[in-house]
Amino acid sequence: GGFTSLGLLALTGTLAACGRQNEIQLAAAPATSLPIPPVADSRVEDGIRVFELEARTGTLDLVPGFPTTSAGFNGPYLGPTLRAERGEHVRVKITNSLDEVTSVHWHGMHLPPEMDGGPHQPVAAGSTWEPEWLIDQPAATLWYHPHPHGETQRHVNLGLAGMFIVDDADAPEGLPSDYGVDDVPVIVQDKMVGDEGDFLLDSSGNEVGTLGKTLLVNGVRNAQLEVASRRIRLRLLNAAPARTFNFTFADSREFALIASDGGLLTAPVPLTSIRLSPAERAEIVVDIEPGERVMLRSAGVELGAVAVPAAFGGDDEFDVLELRAAGELAPSSSVPETLASIERLREDDAVGLREFRLADRKINSKDMDMGRVDEIVRVGTTEVWEVRNTNPYPHNFHVHDVQFQVLAIDGEEPPPELGGWKDTIYLEPRRVYRIILRFGDYTSSSVPYMYHCHLLLHEDEGMMGQFVVLEKGEAAPLRISMDHDH
Ligand code: C2O
Ligand code: CU
Repeated sequence: GGFTSLGLLALTGTLAACGRQNEIQLAAAPATSLPIPPVADSRVEDGIRVFELEARTGTLDLVPGFPTTSAGFNGPYLGPTLRAERGEHVRVKITNSLDEVTSVHWHGMHLPPEMDGGPHQPVAAGSTWEPEWLIDQPAATLWYHPHPHGETQRHVNLGLAGMFIVDDADAPEGLPSDYGVDDVPVIVQDKMVGDEGDFLLDSSGNEVGTLGKTLLVNGVRNAQLEVASRRIRLRLLNAAPARTFNFTFADSREFALIASDGGLLTAPVPLTSIRLSPAERAEIVVDIEPGERVMLRSAGVELGAVAVPAAFGGDDEFDVLELRAAGELAPSSSVPETLASIERLREDDAVGLREFRLADRKINSKDMDMGRVDEIVRVGTTEVWEVRNTNPYPHNFHVHDVQFQVLAIDGEEPPPELGGWKDTIYLEPRRVYRIILRFGDYTSSSVPYMYHCHLLLHEDEGMMGQFVVLEKGEAAPLRISMDHDH
């Protein structure tokens, strides 16, 4: 008996890193009107839409007398919404005004590997990086965040993240689309706030990483949104380091799921809840009556077929965003019955099957090695990947560059909310997900793309691998050169 190492873990669990602060439960916050991240300014230069982002530190005011050190793009926390249309060339001039190296990854974007912003495109302190690419995918809610190897969790947790909305002339008429009015970005993050105000990372040894008691939506607590029309579209982004949210309305009202990670579904899916693991997005449209107030909440998460201990956040509930309808509401059109046409990728067309086993912060028993090529795929081909979580706690799986489709979960047809394009998928414990991917356009012999768990502690600790997209017959590099990494 006596003092086991488990006991020690539990003890240190109450002392977070960063000067051993304790997580505190903040006093109730007054209702705060939801801040809307501004749409980033841009200018068109020689046919290219140019944006500017500056990563910098700032402070937030969460604990009276103890400013919270934060970071953001063009401001103290989070960043502006980048917005561009399919077919446009974009360039983003990124200035790193932090005192350390970072990177900016375009999560969900189809783009050349050198523009991807992953661990192989570091931006040194004080320097700038100007990736440029063609927007070549359907309308979607994407996002951007740092991806420096081993430091992603800390940078995102400080506030470095923003939305990237892709527009497409093919999107149907009739969806709420007045940005910030009836088409609203909702960036959800839970935070561990320490008694000196700082954002903490859990060092207690919780397998999934940092689960905090404080919920921020677009950077504020206790957010509310004045609604002036009968229907409102929410673009939900789980930008938390580890927590899976299960979004639902307090009165369990039905809403229409219209889009998943990579864009619109073929038709709206009526739901009363939608589960999003870190990095997943969902666009929903909800009806509201004049004068109504309704709370968007995160109810306890059904973590899957296998019971997951509450320690992994499954039982936590949060109020997320209160919708407050005006006494009189402008009419909204009804949600179109057909939203998009999605080409189904066919298993018959797949040239191969790869298996990925996620367990204990490794993929296929390997730790991330930035110099190693883990998988070689051929440009233009379709593949089936079988992804399995063999742990009793959650993981998820994100693939750079492509949007994929879900073929089956444990051999069964996936639910309708997984019927569209995805770039990140929640992996319930001990289940097998069969996904199908097509690798298009961009070859990458010397610069790899990533696949990884998007629980940021896991990602930082090496639950990540690298793939290159090669021409048919092209020989693979034996090692990835790190010359570009400094
Ligand atoms: Cu959202 Cu590899 O990242
Ligand atoms: Cu994981």
